[in-house]
Amino acid sequence: MRGRTVWVGTSWKMTKTLGEARAWVDTVVTGLTASARAAAPAGVQPFVLPAHTALASVRDLLGPASPLLLGAQNAHQGPEGAGTGEVSMRMVADAGAELVELGHSERRASFGETDATVALKVRAALDAGLRPLVCVGEPGPVRDAGEEIGFVAAQVAAALAPVRPEERGRVLLAYEPVWAIGEHGRRPETAEVAPVLAEVARLGGGGSDGERPLVLYGGSVDQGNAAALLEDPSTDGLFVGRAAWEPEGFLGLLAIAASVASAARP
Ligand code: PGA
Repeated sequence: MRGRTVWVGTSWKMTKTLGEARAWVDTVVTGLTASARAAAPAGVQPFVLPAHTALASVRDLLGPASPLLLGAQNAHQGPEGAGTGEVSMRMVADAGAELVELGHSERRASFGETDATVALKVRAALDAGLRPLVCVGEPGPVRDAGEEIGFVAAQVAAALAPVRPEERGRVLLAYEPVWAIGEHGRRPETAEVAPVLAEVARLGGGGSDGERPLVLYGGSVDQGNAAALLEDPSTDGLFVGRAAWEPEGFLGLLAIAASVASAARP
């Protein structure tokens, strides 16, 4: 880890009815309270990105004093009006989102999102007062060809192009190699991802904590590899799918992050 705070968040992707969302929140809040941490564990910033349908109800279940930041998994870059089936940045902010995930590889692969779309969404998110969480990462064949650093660098440059210098601290960059994501993904070794994380951090700029984007790692993170991944010196935290969809898994990851954060404290 490189900052003072370890970020640990999950996107529920296309899972969870309202009842399932409520059960997850209840267990996480109870778990934090039972361990005498009605707030998040010291040194840890948790976040959760429900599907749009559950956003407002998760906001209401968590309440205003919640230690969990809330976010959306996507929103449209354009003005409101003729966008059937889409939701705007302003609408997700109104439903409780402080973060908005952009450019996940599933959206790039299945919904035609390009670096250009992601750049428009980053600008729209910032203009709506949201913190963009931009996913970048190379497909397996690009890694096999040894071209992952250049590939990811181009994605990061596109995402940061519309960001003013003083806004950089509002951006989160999640390095998520496509070959590591999801049920067919391969768990990475820290050494495989470290050079790319270092490049993402470098491109974000070496400014003070408040001015640089945070750098997260995502893709087959679980309780077995979380501590090792957090040892990476370019990483501010973890972005998790499957291993946090059960609330006990999320709580376990928060506990690991808390012990990494406390070990790093002077
Ligand atoms: P996973 O998903 O943790 O289930 O591999 C990660 C992601 O897509 O963000």
